[in-house]
Amino acid sequence: MDRRSFMRYGSAALASLAVGREAFAQSASHTMTMTASMPGMAMPAATAADALLPVSDLPVGSTLPALRILPNQATQAGLFKATLTARPVEVQFKPGLSTTAWAYNGQLPGPLIEVMEGDTLEIRLVNQLAQPTTVHWHGLPVPPDQDGNPGEEVPPGGERLYRFTLPLGTAGTYWYHPHPHGYTAEQAWMGLAGALIVRAKADPLANLAEQHLLFSDLKLATDGRIAGNSEMDWMNGREGQFVLVNGAHQPVINLNGAQHWRLWNACNARYLRLSLAGRPFQLVGSDGGLLAQPRTVTELLLSPGERAQIVVSGAAGAVTLQATPYDRGKMGDVAIEQTLTLAKVLFDGAKAAPLPTRLRDIAPLTTPVARKEVRFSEQMSMDGGVHQMIPLINGKRFDMQRVDLSSQRNAVEAWSLVNDSDMDHPFHLHGTQFQVVSRSIEGKIVPEPFLAWRDTVNTRPGETVVIHTVQHQRGKRMFHCHILEHEDRGMMGMLEVI
Ligand code: C2O
Ligand code: CU
Ligand code: CU
Repeated sequence: MDRRSFMRYGSAALASLAVGREAFAQSASHTMTMTASMPGMAMPAATAADALLPVSDLPVGSTLPALRILPNQATQAGLFKATLTARPVEVQFKPGLSTTAWAYNGQLPGPLIEVMEGDTLEIRLVNQLAQPTTVHWHGLPVPPDQDGNPGEEVPPGGERLYRFTLPLGTAGTYWYHPHPHGYTAEQAWMGLAGALIVRAKADPLANLAEQHLLFSDLKLATDGRIAGNSEMDWMNGREGQFVLVNGAHQPVINLNGAQHWRLWNACNARYLRLSLAGRPFQLVGSDGGLLAQPRTVTELLLSPGERAQIVVSGAAGAVTLQATPYDRGKMGDVAIEQTLTLAKVLFDGAKAAPLPTRLRDIAPLTTPVARKEVRFSEQMSMDGGVHQMIPLINGKRFDMQRVDLSSQRNAVEAWSLVNDSDMDHPFHLHGTQFQVVSRSIEGKIVPEPFLAWRDTVNTRPGETVVIHTVQHQRGKRMFHCHILEHEDRGMMGMLEVI
């Protein structure tokens, strides 16, 4: 069944979707069985029908909390040593209403890891969840066996050490989150995600004050539980009624002169089309660090998993940082998109020094020696009489035992990312940063206007995005849609670098 005939089923089909979770053996019910059989853990028995807390119920207007830094336990230079413990934690988003979240070291979002290029990291993961988990170092070129791949899970009660060295040239804005197959979406929506910044020895923006904004999505039930996913959430990707910034609801950001902001879209599925009420700002960095030159923009689309660096300054005044509606092709009877207030920004109007016109050199990757195609599609299934949308990559669902593509180490390749579906899908590749070369839709090819290092790029329905990419280490890497519900449902493939 294609999407249009699926749509024609209307509410009858959507009603039957409500029972889809149980029928979906690979991800959702797997999670349910696992957690239900684990004694001693407070587990939300969330259903699709959770009544949600009204948006007006969460307080607003606190000062933006800074991300708390993970202390370095090592004493020798060049080494960063710490422990991340994933465990349930009681928090109050609404004063007086208790919520069980899952957090790294009891912090929402997880602690900020700050390191220098060239550093070696030794991070111990302690798993105090009732599910297996891993830590994936999103965007960083860590060895495949240290990258928290699905299949290398740490069982409940277990622990492991991740150890890797960050090469020079990797300065940028990264993050870490769980990656156990079938559990990633749930562990992320329960709160497991944190920021990781790699700093350069020479940073052209070092004299600017820095502000960190990690966006996460929260779907909170009236009784304080973090609500589970409905079948619609699994199909479209989950969006809660709240978007938090560093865990706070619509906080206030005080801007003195110019500030350098690092932005993380750590939402499971929500696209953030960011703007400051029409005020221009400077885009200075993408996932993998600084651009060659600043670019003046008035809005910025961050798809799930993406990061950016911007510089903000301007005349005195109070301005709303907002996410304006973006149509990503959600299916079914979904609510009309509204403009979301993310934060209030108080500009003090202090004069800012001009930015350097040159931020760094980015060389284009050399001519590709091989080509690959990655095709996103959707299949409507009626397994067991239940309507489901199965997201696919190259016509298949993820299989941990199957290698889908293979690449030669150090060989530059051109990958065509083809979106053959009716929904946007953000493509993400592990282990490297790539360059977008062109985007085409209906035969109209638009060369990418500037060079940038990315690990996540959005693809629109009917669009083909061409990237140039190279992997430098042997082993298995994942590529997938970063709508985590789609990833868990199998919109993921495996690349073997030989
Ligand atoms: Cu951010 Cu494979 O993930
Ligand atoms: Cu990743
Ligand atoms: Cu997707």
